[in-house]
Amino acid sequence: MPKTTSSVIRLAKTRDATTIAELSRSQIENELPWRWKPARVQHHIRTTDSTVIVSESENVLSGFAITSFADTTAHINLLAVNPMFRRLGIATSLIRWITLSCQVAGIGCIRLEVRVNNTGAIECYANLGFQMVGVRKGYYEGREDAQLMTLMLISSDMEARRPK
Ligand SMILES: CC(C)(COP(=O)(O)OP(=O)(O)OC[C@H]1O[C@@H](n2cnc3c(N)ncnc32)[C@H](O)[C@@H]1OP(=O)(O)O)[C@@H](O)C(=O)NCCC(=O)NCCS
Repeated sequence: MPKTTSSVIRLAKTRDATTIAELSRSQIENELPWRWKPARVQHHIRTTDSTVIVSESENVLSGFAITSFADTTAHINLLAVNPMFRRLGIATSLIRWITLSCQVAGIGCIRLEVRVNNTGAIECYANLGFQMVGVRKGYYEGREDAQLMTLMLISSDMEARRPK
């Protein structure tokens, strides 16, 4: 397992969809029905209200994130890092990339759900300023609860002053 690596982040291409879907199945949707199949990932790569980014390390697709955008909020749908490349700051870089894009786009808040027992991911998000704002009971097929986390990018005062 590499202890250091140099990684680049880029927008996903349609040819990345299968690798992303397989990472989702093995690293996120394990023990759940496989919902993020290649066609669904391809849709998110193509559509303009989502962004799919990947990290590449040593010519391997080492991580990815899929984010959907509404007018003033964004939602991180999925994010995972290949086990061979963990604890190297790749998730941190992916989340920072998303955060910066949201700031440029005037997004006020990023939301996500994570399994309540996924303490590593919760710590990773918390390190970047995400706060635990609630629990969604049975969110994962009724089998497991989700921790809802949000990162506020602008104050609630500023949000209230946004033109309607
Ligand atoms: C959670 C996950 C995305 C983290 O990816 P990563 O690239 O290893 O994370 P980073 O290297 O950026 O970690 C940054 C910090 O987060 C925390 N962290 C990350 N993984 C952790 C773990 N397994 N246990 C405890 N803390 C962890 C640490 O504070 C870490 O800093 P450190 O390595 O200096 O101690 C990765 O483990 C993963 O893909 N897990 C399976 C899928 C998943 O849980 N996705 C998120 C929910 S959808």
